[in-house]
Formats: sequence, structure tokens, C-alpha cells
Amino acid sequence: MEVSKAVIPAAGFGTRFLPVTKAQPKEMMPVLDKPTIQYVVEEAVQAGIHDILIITGRGKQAIERHFDKSYELEEELKSAEKYDRLDRVRQIAELADIHYVRQKERDGLGDAVRYAKNHVGDDAFALLLGDTIIQSDIPCTEQLIREAEAHESSTISLERVPWDDVPSYGVADIETTPSSQSSFPVTDFVEKPARDAAPSNLAITGRYVLTSEIFDALESTTKGVGGELQLTDAIRKLDSVRGVELEGDRYDIGNIPSWLQANIEMAHHHDDGEMNAAVQNLIEEQFA
Ligand code: UTP
Repeated sequence: MEVSKAVIPAAGFGTRFLPVTKAQPKEMMPVLDKPTIQYVVEEAVQAGIHDILIITGRGKQAIERHFDKSYELEEELKSAEKYDRLDRVRQIAELADIHYVRQKERDGLGDAVRYAKNHVGDDAFALLLGDTIIQSDIPCTEQLIREAEAHESSTISLERVPWDDVPSYGVADIETTPSSQSSFPVTDFVEKPARDAAPSNLAITGRYVLTSEIFDALESTTKGVGGELQLTDAIRKLDSVRGVELEGDRYDIGNIPSWLQANIEMAHHHDDGEMNAAVQNLIEEQFA
């Protein structure tokens, strides 16, 4: 097994962030000076992937524009001799080979993944949710790929969440207590279980490596929780699935507290230039 392609679903409505998401994709919500989906693409690239498929939909054109070359802007920056800005703008268009496919109806994450079938074919692929940023020493996707390739198995990133939050997640059923860093078998998953019915508090975090078996599993899956085609329901049908406990910080940008937390924590921990230094000072003043 060799994982050389990534799929990023970014077609959802983002209702939890309305009205901001009425006319702009939630995946374009900025965290500091970059849109969320740029962090996601960069994570895939850091994991060695250069072939990326973004699943888009109606009203998501800003995503394509962001990763496209902008001749006019580049000329402006060149004549203004703003070379550092010019470099940053150019790098975005050169990050990876990015392809797009449109999800016709927003029928859920499982439905969105179905649209990747023609692009990925029979290969295993990385799947990264376009609204989730993960900050970790080793990129989460890299760690998943390493484990998936070693065990020739679909492998999913999991995180222990507070028990009260379990009903918002897909949750793993495991036989043995996992040791950190290495992967472990997952026997089952439950999508959005009631707190008392949850098999664990190990929640799916938005990063996966899946074998192409997932496409047949999705075809034979019917709509589940929320009337949507749930990816978790299809993953349950795979022969072998392993989990890796996430070591890092995860931000689901689709909800306001987590988006705010991402801005504050990433400003606090990052030190890459003048703008962030100013933001860091502000945060320190406000929260000291
Ligand atoms: P969410 O589960 O957060 O759903 O999607 P959502 O519709 O975007 O947001 P809310 O719940 O209405 O606030 C997780 C990821 O899956 C994508 C989203 O774009 C997001 O990146 N997604 C979701 C799709 O691509 N298609 C869908 O039909 C649903």
C-alpha cells in the first residue's frame, strides 16, 4: 500500500457558523492570516502528498480562487516591491496539484467521499476534513499513513474527548487500551451515540487513511443519523480498521468557540513574522 493522494471534503453548509457562512465557505474562515483549508492542504503536503482532490459545492468558488495563480495581484506586489508578500502569494498556487469535484446535493460526509471514487481509483487515500486544523509535531496525516502502510489497513485518528461531548462524534469501540504513538485495532464505530451507550470516549477527529474498499461500503450504506449518508456507517463495514490516538491540538473551525480558540492558541504558540508577533503581544496583554 502506498498513499499518494488526499481528498478534502469542503462542500458542507456550515450552518453552525451562520450568518458568516451565508456567502462564504466556512473552510475559508481565517485563522490568523490563512484560511482554514490552507492549513489542511499544507498538512497533506507535509505528509508527502501532492495530488489533492477538494470536494466543493455551490458557493465554494472562493476556495478555487484561493489556490489559483493570481497574475494581477502578483504584478501589483512586484511593482510595489513587496517581495515577501509576493512569495507568500506565489507559494499558495504552487503547494500541490489541486483538483476539484462538485458534490451535487449536500447529503453528508459519506456522500461527499463517494465523489472521490473516479479520482483515487483502487488506491488507498488520505482524507482530511476541510474545516479541521490539527497542529502536531508530526503531521497527523503523516502518522496515519505510516501506520496504514505498515499494517495495510484503513487507519483513523482518534482523540479522547470529554464524555459529555461524545454525542457529537463518531466514537470507536476498541478491545485493548491503546499505547501512544502506535496504532491498535478498532472493532466497531458508533455515530453520535448517547453518552451512556458510547463504547468509549475515543472520537474520530477528521483525519483518515482509507482503502478503496470504502467506495463499495458507501454504495451499500443507507442514510443514517440526521438523514445524511454517514461515513462512519460505511467505515464499520471495512474488514480491518486501526486507530491512532492523536497527539496534538485539534480545532473544528465549524463552531465559534473552537475557531476562536484556534486563533488565540495559534497566535500564542506561533512565531512566524511581524504580524504574528503583534498578535502575540495583544493576546498576552489580554490574557496575562
Ligand atoms: P460538518 O459535519 O461540519 O457539516 O462537515 P457542515 O454541513 O459543513 O456544517 P454544519 O454542521 O452545517 O455546521 C465536516 C466536513 O465535511 C464536509 C464539510 O464541508 C466539512 O469540511 N461536508 C459535509 C461535505 O463536503 N459535504 C456534506 O454533505 C457534508
